[in-house]
Amino acid sequence: MAVDVLLGLQWGDEGKGKIVDVLTSKYDIIARFQGGPNAGHTLEFDGIKHVLHTIPSGIFHPTAINIIGNGVVIDPIIFKKELEGLKKLNVNFKEKLFISRKAHLILPSHKLLDAASEHAKGKDKIGSTLKGIGPTYMDKTGRNGLRIGDIELPDFTSRYTKLVNKHKQLLNHFDFEYDVEAMEKEWFDSIDLLKEMHFIDSEQYLAQAIKDGKNVLAEGAQGSLLDIDFGTYPFVTSSNTVAAGACTGLGIAPNKIGDVFGIFKAYLTRVGSGPFPTELHDTTGVDIQKAGNEFGATTGRPRRCGWIDLPALKYAINVNGVTKLMMMKADVLSNFPTIKVCTHYKYNGEIIDYLPYNIEGDNIEPIYNELPCWKVDLTGLTDMSDLPKELIDYVTYLEKELETPITIVSVGPDRTQTILNN
Ligand code: GDP
Ligand code: IMO
Ligand code: MG
Repeated sequence: MAVDVLLGLQWGDEGKGKIVDVLTSKYDIIARFQGGPNAGHTLEFDGIKHVLHTIPSGIFHPTAINIIGNGVVIDPIIFKKELEGLKKLNVNFKEKLFISRKAHLILPSHKLLDAASEHAKGKDKIGSTLKGIGPTYMDKTGRNGLRIGDIELPDFTSRYTKLVNKHKQLLNHFDFEYDVEAMEKEWFDSIDLLKEMHFIDSEQYLAQAIKDGKNVLAEGAQGSLLDIDFGTYPFVTSSNTVAAGACTGLGIAPNKIGDVFGIFKAYLTRVGSGPFPTELHDTTGVDIQKAGNEFGATTGRPRRCGWIDLPALKYAINVNGVTKLMMMKADVLSNFPTIKVCTHYKYNGEIIDYLPYNIEGDNIEPIYNELPCWKVDLTGLTDMSDLPKELIDYVTYLEKELETPITIVSVGPDRTQTILNN
């Protein structure tokens, strides 16, 4: 069987968690392939609202197996808190949550390095979630990292000490006060809990599962515009958020990939620093932020809001090979006077329809098409045939522009507020 991939096409927070949860009943296995606790994936059902950071969004399904892949970085402290949250909701995670031995560990000193690096950057800071993501992936590619499988080795503590000593040397180069020791007890207590989890060689597990005809959904974190290679560098995260990341982050061969589901909001948001050509600095931006409750699921920071950006979406669709689109948060735009869609940019005086190398500064100006908005509360609607004409027209317009079908229109945060467009 093929492995389907679900990922964000914008700057994250598109609603990946919600849709993975909705789709899980069709899959035997849900596998996270990159990122770490910088992610916040929100699920709402039966009156419960739950935010996951490291654990895949299929965990609430009674039987689906959930895998944290080798491409993910894990903070044991946050992971422990996530498990405690699941325990309260009577989720039996022991039997259905497996962790790749090759996933890397976030150490307390990685978080300190993240904070020190951001502090040193001053006004040029990335706006990192300060979860230690960048420094942990740096140690991975620098071949210094600690992995989940190392926890099982007799010399784990001395490996830990060796790495922390390296970090202390680095930290001493920054004008930054720190106390690693104060953070260590909680970390090691959380490692003890991690040890009780089921570790696997996820590439082998998945290869067998695919042979056995199991359906696998690979769940991405962040969004394509935050990808380390293809995002708005350097204002990006430190992993490959694009579809190729599912291959390297799980050990799945490219020819095993089936559908690539690309999720996008009917408008656009960004949290943290970096260019955002269609950002709204006026009251419309504030209105979208309020209507969409656009505050970060991980850090609580307000999300910057703006209009949908088609050149950026086309770029993301192309890089990922998206086969099906899913449009989120259509309900948020209800009752706006009109909707604007950025179709081109004016870039250094020229009209272009692609995302150029450098979109920082004043060299880029969005060119908009203005469409009529729907004046209907969508949140109780369940069928495409119930949707107002203006929204159907918006969906049809985007499908034509993006040359890809929109198969889901989401009209609210709850599992049930999901309209299939077959
Ligand atoms: P993720 O990181 O991609 O999983 O997305 P987040 O959970 O960080 O952010 C999406 C937010 O929008 C969450 O608060 C969701 O509950 C909410 N949400 C998802 N889909 C919809 C929708 O169609 N309408 C509205 N109003 N909210 C939605
Ligand atoms: P989900 O999976 C939105 C952003 C941060 C910052 C940049 C780098 O919930 O969509 P990092 O902590 O990775 O070093 O931060 O990336 N960022 C996200 N923005 N959603 C996310 O995840 C994000 N994860 C990281 O705000 O700008
Ligand atoms: Mg999120």
